[in-house]
Amino acid sequence: MEQTFIMIKPDGVQRGLVGEIIGRFEKKGFTLKGLKFITVDQSFAEKHYADLSAKPFFNGLVEYIISGPVVAMVWEGKNVVTTGRKIIGATNPADSAPGTIRGDYAIDIGRNVIHGSDAVESARKEIALWFPEGIAEWRSSLHSWIY
Ligand code: PPS
Repeated sequence: MEQTFIMIKPDGVQRGLVGEIIGRFEKKGFTLKGLKFITVDQSFAEKHYADLSAKPFFNGLVEYIISGPVVAMVWEGKNVVTTGRKIIGATNPADSAPGTIRGDYAIDIGRNVIHGSDAVESARKEIALWFPEGIAEWRSSLHSWIY
């Protein structure tokens, strides 16, 4: 079953959006497979955003991610990478539809509350980076009511 990496960024944590965000993924029917509350350092954040190192906003993005604790999660389900990105909404909250997380809770691209992997392969890399200890196996008893 497909997995994705989802991170509630420091602004989402500080603004008390953790429960709301987790609830949206749970109510959709996805399964929470891993979760940690963690403050990362600069070199870790630079690794996570390595593909963006040439971008003009890179340093600001790294500063933002290390500015407080984040909630790092692995969610599982059919098409969870693509559907997860739809639940999150467009990267720039100015373009995010109402009803999406960013559409409902964010204004500025530099404080867009949440990250979600953009492809199955990046999800695999991000899960390996954030959960090097691995993910405990468990199967939700809801499965037969969702699939
Ligand atoms: S790009 O330029 O197309 O590669 O970037 P994009 O895919 O739109 O976004 C990748 C991540 O960079 C963040 N981002 C920004 N942060 C701060 N300021 C600006 N201007 C900015 N532009 C993009 C964006 O939120 C994405 O972060 P994640 O955590 O992956 O959502």
